[in-house]
Amino acid sequence: MCWALERAMQQEGYQAKAAYRGPEGLRLIQKDDPSLVILDLKMPEMGGLEVLKHALEINPKLPVIILTAYGTIETAIEAMKMGAVDYISKPFDLDELKLIVKQNLVVCQLETEVNFLRSQLTEKYNNMIGKSQAFQEVLHLIEKVSKTNVNVLITGESGTGKELVATAIHQNSLRQDGPFVPINCAALPEHLLESELFGHEKGAFTGAHTRKIGRFELADNGTIFLDEIGELPLNMQVKMLRVLQEKSFERVGGTKTLSVDVRVIAATNRQLDKAIQEGDFREDLYYRLNVMPINIPPLRERQEDIPLLVEHIMEKLKPHYCIKRISPGVLELFKRYKWPGNIREMENVLERACIICQGEEILPEYLPCDIRGARAESEEDLILNFPDEGVSLEQVEKQLLIKALKKSSGNQSKAAELLGITRSTFLYRCQKHDILKN
Ligand SMILES: Nc1ncnc2c1ncn2[C@@H]1O[C@H](COP(=O)(O)OP(=O)(O)OP(=O)(O)O)[C@@H](O)[C@H]1O
Ligand SMILES: [Mg+2]
Repeated sequence: MCWALERAMQQEGYQAKAAYRGPEGLRLIQKDDPSLVILDLKMPEMGGLEVLKHALEINPKLPVIILTAYGTIETAIEAMKMGAVDYISKPFDLDELKLIVKQNLVVCQLETEVNFLRSQLTEKYNNMIGKSQAFQEVLHLIEKVSKTNVNVLITGESGTGKELVATAIHQNSLRQDGPFVPINCAALPEHLLESELFGHEKGAFTGAHTRKIGRFELADNGTIFLDEIGELPLNMQVKMLRVLQEKSFERVGGTKTLSVDVRVIAATNRQLDKAIQEGDFREDLYYRLNVMPINIPPLRERQEDIPLLVEHIMEKLKPHYCIKRISPGVLELFKRYKWPGNIREMENVLERACIICQGEEILPEYLPCDIRGARAESEEDLILNFPDEGVSLEQVEKQLLIKALKKSSGNQSKAAELLGITRSTFLYRCQKHDILKN
């Protein structure tokens, strides 16, 4: 029967191998890592239950289908308790066995797929880069609020990762299988924003040809992300307050009150307390939103994260460009620069450098003036106090050129003389470092 089954399975297109005794089967399982095993309970040498036990020790996820003789159903059930996925009693119909095999392989494949997708999600969460104390605190808060349903207000300068944090909270929450619905409150004029948020009925206003479902309805059982909440017009703030308080609203032009189960995460780069003082933002709405505040510190306050972020961004860029490295000088400049646009700005700067870079290494000359200028403050200590992370000859050369120019009050011939080079060499080098343009 073993031989016949092997043939039958091969005819189905599987790479089937037969083993006639338990130990032989276990060796095959060890060696070939099969996707599925069909196992008889009654065998010489080693009984099926024992083989099952060892097989699952080798691979706990291995689907094992038990063949059992009529009248020994109890043993088959015991095998299932031990971790077998299914059983079929002899004499069996071959088509039935084929079906059971196929179904179990599909289940297995789906499980692998789900696990893979899950791991990608968690990777995404872990993909938030940062080892600084300040950023670790943010991660800690994300983890804490994820398990709750409270409203969260994320604040931070432009490009600090507010949307990334909002997504991470949703993906780690009990609502992860529900929708994550973002809406930018600054992107639409007031009347459109209202129907975008709450939907509208057919004929509610000129141009409303059909009924529209709003974002709050779409986010039912999930999370709505109200981006740039600080730009919400006062009129809409009143309506928003009601939704937050009662979790219910009407579509524009509608009378039916709709109830939704939505978690609210809002974000802004405005200082809302100031906006409140200026009369631009309702205090009651602020307190509703700000149950759990998360402030993302700007990049310049967590400089230790800069090398990690550069590495992370470069990993994403490398497949598209022929860049292999970043010169130490660039990293040094990055640490000195203030990054008003934070991580988004860094992404843009690096991508631009990749585009214009002609070799395999990104050099300071491929950076925008603002960032290269960040070097000037530190010219003294770069040469005098040789930094731990080293300094490129290029950097030193540039500073010597600048110094010579200063010493000679801008007289190029004199500066060249001070450096012991010809004026044309001096000019060539100044041009290379973009010095004379400034
Ligand atoms: N800690 C981080 N690790 C890795 N990437 C990050 C991190 N923080 C932000 N980013 C990246 O920086 C970019 C900007 O992030 P995001 O859009 O979330 O910022 P934002 O605060 O919403 O910006 P804005 O105020 O401009 O809307 C994104 O590409 C994001 O992936
Ligand atoms: Mg954003």
